[in-house]
Amino acid sequence: MRSEPYKIKEVKKSRALKPYERWNILKAAGFNTFNVLSDHVAFDMVARGMSAWSHFQKAALMVGDEAYAGARSYYSLEGAVREVFGVTGIVPAHNRIGAEKLVATTMIAAGQTVLHNRGQASGLVAAQGGEEVDVTNPQAATMPGPASFGADVDLKRLEGELHRLGRRGVAYVHVDLCPDGWGGQPVSVDNLERVAALARTHGVPLVVDISDVFTVAWWNRAAAEGGELGEVARRLLACADVVLMDASHDARSDVGGFVWARDPDTNDALRNQVVVFEGLHTYGGMTGRAMDVFAVGVREMAGGELAQWHQTQIGELADMLWADGVPAVRGTRGIVLDAAAFFPQLGADEHPKFVLAACLYIQGGIRPRIDGTWRAHSEPPGSRWLHLELPRCAYTRNHLREIADVVGSVWAARSEITGLRLANQPEFVDEAVFEPVHERLFVTIPRAERSARRLFEPYKIAIFEPLKVTDRPYRVQAIREAGYNTFLLRSEDVYIDFLTDSGTSAMSCHQWEGMTDTSDTPYGNRHIQELVETFREVLGFEHIIPTHQGRAAEHIMSQCMIRPGQLVPGNMYFTTTKLHQEMAGGVFVDVIVDEAHDPGNDFPWKGNIDCAKLQAEIDRVGAENIAYISHECCVNMAGGQPFSMDNLKEVSRLCQRYGIPIMFDATRCVENAWMIKMKDPAYADRSVREILREMMSYGDGCTISCKKDFLVNMGGILACNSSELARRFRRMLRVWEGEVTNGGLDTKDIVALTRGLLDSLEDDYIRMRIEQTQEFGRKLLAAGIPIVVPPGSHAIFIDARRFLPHVDQDEFPAQALAAAIYIETGVRTMERGNVSKGRNPATGENYRPKLELVRCTVPRRVYTASHIDYVVEGIVRLWEKRDAISGLRFVYEPKVLRFFQSRFEPVRPWTF
Ligand SMILES: Cc1ncc(COP(=O)(O)O)c(C=O)c1O
Repeated sequence: MRSEPYKIKEVKKSRALKPYERWNILKAAGFNTFNVLSDHVAFDMVARGMSAWSHFQKAALMVGDEAYAGARSYYSLEGAVREVFGVTGIVPAHNRIGAEKLVATTMIAAGQTVLHNRGQASGLVAAQGGEEVDVTNPQAATMPGPASFGADVDLKRLEGELHRLGRRGVAYVHVDLCPDGWGGQPVSVDNLERVAALARTHGVPLVVDISDVFTVAWWNRAAAEGGELGEVARRLLACADVVLMDASHDARSDVGGFVWARDPDTNDALRNQVVVFEGLHTYGGMTGRAMDVFAVGVREMAGGELAQWHQTQIGELADMLWADGVPAVRGTRGIVLDAAAFFPQLGADEHPKFVLAACLYIQGGIRPRIDGTWRAHSEPPGSRWLHLELPRCAYTRNHLREIADVVGSVWAARSEITGLRLANQPEFVDEAVFEPVHERLFVTIPRAERSARRLFEPYKIAIFEPLKVTDRPYRVQAIREAGYNTFLLRSEDVYIDFLTDSGTSAMSCHQWEGMTDTSDTPYGNRHIQELVETFREVLGFEHIIPTHQGRAAEHIMSQCMIRPGQLVPGNMYFTTTKLHQEMAGGVFVDVIVDEAHDPGNDFPWKGNIDCAKLQAEIDRVGAENIAYISHECCVNMAGGQPFSMDNLKEVSRLCQRYGIPIMFDATRCVENAWMIKMKDPAYADRSVREILREMMSYGDGCTISCKKDFLVNMGGILACNSSELARRFRRMLRVWEGEVTNGGLDTKDIVALTRGLLDSLEDDYIRMRIEQTQEFGRKLLAAGIPIVVPPGSHAIFIDARRFLPHVDQDEFPAQALAAAIYIETGVRTMERGNVSKGRNPATGENYRPKLELVRCTVPRRVYTASHIDYVVEGIVRLWEKRDAISGLRFVYEPKVLRFFQSRFEPVRPWTF
């Protein structure tokens, strides 16, 4: 898989700081990145606790049982571990240290030795009066990379120590499958089995840390070229007499752990130790919710896809760094940089590792993994290696490119960088305080060429939704069952859902946060007041009225503003908008520029109104017979095409002359504002917020479906300047929708909307959003795929007539193409052509519209660049075998809105 086995469900916004700001922050933190506050870090390269959760984990957070004794959550965790690893009766602990504390205090007698492969000392062994001997293979110190299993135990040395110390002299052998001290290098199954055999022969227990067991299983499987991941994990586990696990690694939880001993007496002893140090044996220092989150994480890691994807991402990052010549080793949990090779000019007392960490932070907000004792990082081999761990599922490929660019640019400037002097005597690294050897420690580092053009998401992934990755036979069956109609597919059978951008956005943590503390009264309510004030401030309209969706606002506006028989000129139509205008007795007339109807014409302002057409309508019926101009932003049916500010001003002047109101469909107003910034040099330096405010100032009111630009799953707005009109709007609102305050929206959605509006106006966000769609379009065009040009803001439309020229329009080429795309890729798109348009009631013939399109609509903040590339590659593959796709014929055809429910079959069997 070269794209994520999940989609984004919730994002955590990150703050963009400038290098000089980070310089000041780091200076205040004593040039020690540990002490920089998280808000000031762009990329926290610490796998522990920084990974994204699945939405099932988030849900588990809400159902935790916080009982002191016998909590259901304990049994759900115990059950998950039993299911995945086949062990019963785990002993819970608050994290890895908690688990290890139980082991150390139960199993070490003073004077005994622990033989281990951890690359660093554990304070817990010393605290028990124990000794420790590191028996890792010496090659571990050279960080050879995961494929050579650098953390393997030196078997000869182990055997020697076991002999030397004797059975009573050794408390246990402790093997970490992926030890921090060795930059997370893995252990091989073969080595662990031999260690287990030796330990057994000498009658010494083997303790295995399985926090990264699936990651390590992945490397073992890769080395052995096969084997089911769970099976490899169970083989690793079978070696252990005692296992311990930290919840924050493969199980992607924030906190938690457990320990378990094969021998029931030892397990009982550990369980009795829990009450001394951790809590009761059914919670062990974890909240009920933490146990439930952990339980879900354990089950999810067993699927293997997430471990696999983590490794794919680390591999991509390593490739990018190596391409720049950066001295980096690929690790199992991230990348290990060779600080000594970066700065050969710096002596040990100038702390090259900490200098590198400081440079990465100043240059790009990267915080590497440095924690634990000072000695572990100031003496070889730890002083040489700097670990950039990659949190699981949290970053996209664009983020990886940014990280690679930052590292690459520091590498390019390495010879100009000077050292740090230690200003105190720390025992642990978090205590270290440095000062620069020279006042101007860091030169201004020029950014690598790539990053000047590369955009990355101004957020990390907080919550993701796992996706089902299906194979072709599965999809052939699914589309058959759906009658070759993508509307009838079950969403769980869809890998990437490009059906619509309506209500499908990923919300931010900031939005979710607001939703947890609301007053839900439908009467006077400060959250609603906040919404009204924020929208008034942003759009500039006096009266702001919430509705549950866009079409509710359209209904009210149409009923209040249209007299039967009046004309409603507009820049193309939208289905629900036109329907409500007609229900009010209005007559829609299309006054959009001609270019909008030509898919091959790349005119940049295809959303413009043709003022000559509008003037002709005014002359024909008289201004008094025109209800208002229905002026849509980034016209959906034209392919997400914007209007220009110049055109809007011209329309506004014309309407002012005749006293005709302009009412916007502002559903995609932020996208239109960004397109103006992008395409009109006069607006290049203006913020999207200013441009939007100016746009709205040329109109008299608007309807909005907030489910698009404003990053919510539900909501609408009706707005105007006229108090009299607002009074009539509100009167209808009470009758048709809900309270006058909320228009039928629940307060949680109101808060999400206020915050979503503000999120949507951030230049970094909207730039990225539109660039994603544009890049999608550019890649298809580069591959010769016929699409509507220029690429729009929210969707790419494929021209099915040119894609399948051998299919007659009455055999529904766009419908066939949408079904074929699903079979080839698992991607769901939507037909917008002959099926959608329907039949002429007078003749009974299909309308055969000029535009026969497949719409690929990109939801906001949900998919990544890797997903987009996956879609492009699939469509290109299909293009190469397009001759094998035949048209479709109806098996079932409803009378109205037939595109939703109709069913088809191929006119000839598909052979692609
Ligand atoms: C341009 C436009 N206007 C109005 C609507 C209708 O809004 P809603 O779906 O919120 O009722 C949509 C929905 O797709 C739309 O794209």
